[in-house]
Amino acid sequence: MKKMLELLSAEAASAFRAAGYDEKYGRVTLSNRPDLCEYQCNGAMAAAKEYHKAPIMIAQAVAEELGRSEAFEDVQAVNPGFINLKVNESFLSDYLGGMERDGRLGCEKAENPKTIVIDYGGPNVAKPLHVGHLRSAIIGESVKRIARFAGHKVIGDVHLGDWGLQMGLIITELRERKPQLPYFDGQYEGEYPAEAPFTIAELEEIYPTASARSKEDADYKEAAMQATYELQHGRRGYQTLLSHILNVSVTDLKRNYANLNVEFDLWKGESDAQPYIPDMVQKMKDDGFAYVSDNALVVDVKEETDTKEVPPCMLLKSDGASLYTTTDLATIVERMKLYHPDEIIYVVDKRQEMHFVQVFRCARKCGLVDEGTELKFLGFGTMNGKDGKPFKTREGGVMRLEYLLKDINEEMLKKIQASRPMETEEAEAIAKIVGLSAVKYGDLSNQASKDYIFDVDRFTSSEGNTGPYILYTIVRIKSILRKYEETGRQAAAGNVAPARSASEKGLQMELAKFNGVVEAAYEESAPHKLCAYIYDLANAFNKFYHETKILGTEDEEAQAAWISLLCLTRSVLETCIDLLGFEAPEKM
Ligand code: ARG
Repeated sequence: MKKMLELLSAEAASAFRAAGYDEKYGRVTLSNRPDLCEYQCNGAMAAAKEYHKAPIMIAQAVAEELGRSEAFEDVQAVNPGFINLKVNESFLSDYLGGMERDGRLGCEKAENPKTIVIDYGGPNVAKPLHVGHLRSAIIGESVKRIARFAGHKVIGDVHLGDWGLQMGLIITELRERKPQLPYFDGQYEGEYPAEAPFTIAELEEIYPTASARSKEDADYKEAAMQATYELQHGRRGYQTLLSHILNVSVTDLKRNYANLNVEFDLWKGESDAQPYIPDMVQKMKDDGFAYVSDNALVVDVKEETDTKEVPPCMLLKSDGASLYTTTDLATIVERMKLYHPDEIIYVVDKRQEMHFVQVFRCARKCGLVDEGTELKFLGFGTMNGKDGKPFKTREGGVMRLEYLLKDINEEMLKKIQASRPMETEEAEAIAKIVGLSAVKYGDLSNQASKDYIFDVDRFTSSEGNTGPYILYTIVRIKSILRKYEETGRQAAAGNVAPARSASEKGLQMELAKFNGVVEAAYEESAPHKLCAYIYDLANAFNKFYHETKILGTEDEEAQAAWISLLCLTRSVLETCIDLLGFEAPEKM
């Protein structure tokens, strides 16, 4: 369906044409003075320059034409040359009728679907998920859902950190503890046990222990580096250990992400890119892009227009070891080969921006991506505590994601139990759903690139711009619809009628914005636009609800129209929260 603003602009365009002016001036926008009008057209101001006339003259002539349009209820030319517009109630309700009939609430599917890889999550195996990984998961999941809803083919890849010294450290520590295991016996040729020689709890303890010890004990570190080298050069026992580490870790990660309502299509990691490195590097050398500088193999990526220094992209260290950059470049090679994406979006902490500038430039320069493939960095800001510093536990350590969610759920549970009496089990189930909305909405309602303050109290409040407020609104609608149906009638869409009050019109106008908002949220990879929209929509609904006796009215026709309006509002809100990655309970 065309967007409301497109339809109104088309009306204005023909009015300009009919009045003898270029139709390009007929652009209608939302009013920035909602106290005066609903929409406005400022085209006469610009046209005045071309036609050397006073803007008000043009505005008056156009307004007269527009007065004949069925789309508008009221048209006013005001000094110095604005055209203030109010939409016609039937025109608006017809538009909503179209939304009700359309299976996608008026959102068109992309005509030429793109293949988009989204690289998000980025957890490191054998380390517990911590708050640093929360934003990537939440934002990436929403960006993925929005792009999919827009009709694109989207592949979400978790891109595990499963390569490098951390693996050697774990192997070394395991060997210290359980030297008798067959993985450490270089002569062993038999089958290795199918069962991993550790649990997730042990694994999570092993890594920090090993990491701390390597900083104090040079021999230990040397051993870990040697183990890393042997692992990377195909030592069978170590590769089997690596797959055990991956299995145990990934099982745990999947459980954690499931709690966040986050799902990945691919569980690939840095290790999957390694086989692509040798050929890639060889080609970069052959093509004359990679050269040796200070013993390392590098590619220059600086550009004349740079205002800050962009250091060369390092491919191989003097000892031949590859780096984070090399892995990301090889991952691009792999993704191009396997999925031919039109776009790769990286949802990563914005402090890694320089790394991605180097990687993207190097990939372009060396021809790793096609001309048409876009590489996008969606860098997010830091989640801070109330003190304005990166979020920590009370003891000052890195906060595990699990604990953070637990804190939120407990807070939510208290609030829910205080609001009305219910069984503990029911309250817990509701607290989990609402708690997730608190965390996700609290994050997504900020522009991704900005830092924000994680405020449990504010996020879990049912008032203000919060997830729970949105859910309360949805639950309120569901409850009205349920009560209506309890009288033996069917709450059906398809009856939205011309608004009977200002608050009803306000709600209808918000609903009509939906497809435009989804389009903007997709184009700008901006879930915060959806949040801002549902906050306005929820406010418009609540205003209407407080001013209207929906169930109490005697006027059955009006009631049927309102019930339809509620159905539509519920669909739009539920679609939006699904795109944000959370859901609403039946009751609260
Ligand atoms: N594992 C990395 C980290 O914890 C994030 C990975 C981001 N994605 C990427 N393709 N580099 O910092």
